Amino acid sequence: MLEHYPTIEGLDRSEKHLVEEVKKGLSQFGFFYIKDTIEARKKIDKQLENLQSSVDVYYGEDAYTGQGSVFHGTYSRFEDGENLAVKPYFGFISKLLEIISLALGYPKEFLQEFSRQQNCGFYIYDREAEYIEYIKGADAQEVSIGPHKDRSLITIIISIAGFEGYKQELGWFSIPDREGYIMIQAGTLLQDLTQGAVKANVHRVRGFDSSKALFWSNLAPVK
Ligand SMILES: [Fe+2]
Repeated sequence: MLEHYPTIEGLDRSEKHLVEEVKKGLSQFGFFYIKDTIEARKKIDKQLENLQSSVDVYYGEDAYTGQGSVFHGTYSRFEDGENLAVKPYFGFISKLLEIISLALGYPKEFLQEFSRQQNCGFYIYDREAEYIEYIKGADAQEVSIGPHKDRSLITIIISIAGFEGYKQELGWFSIPDREGYIMIQAGTLLQDLTQGAVKANVHRVRGFDSSKALFWSNLAPVK
């Protein structure tokens, strides 16, 4: 366990405060919790019912080798917030990108502009019946998703059990699921852009993967 988990009590705080907290969270930990002001924890399952056609995409890189072909899953990509189910996320992410831009010393619009240039979109996971059947029988202690970094600018984790981060000084430590909060973690696009000033959070999942994770990224489809 960490002694203190970086936590932001909502995007309605003063910009100065948010910038400082985001800076601390990303540079020291590569992730932070943020209050779930869009009620994603409550609404995500319902919102999933509105998904458009989804595809299998590569979402992660092996933490040690950088190899990406191991980690893939089924996701729907959204380009804008026109679909009512994803609209709250677009507002939330756009504000978040502004704060992260400022926290990293860029102009406010920088990461939005970067996202446009890099063709980033919003990815929501899809659940396949087969997978849901599989997780019912999974062992609770076994590492089900091995160490990796997400291939995203940021990942938004709505909820997850058995989630662990890695720090050299600490080894593996638990990043608990917290009622009322979601988690933002840095991915490899942000790490590359900042030349390592922000390190993508290395993580793994113990037990069955119950993760409800969303990516802001430009993920490559599995061919
Ligand atoms: Fe991940």
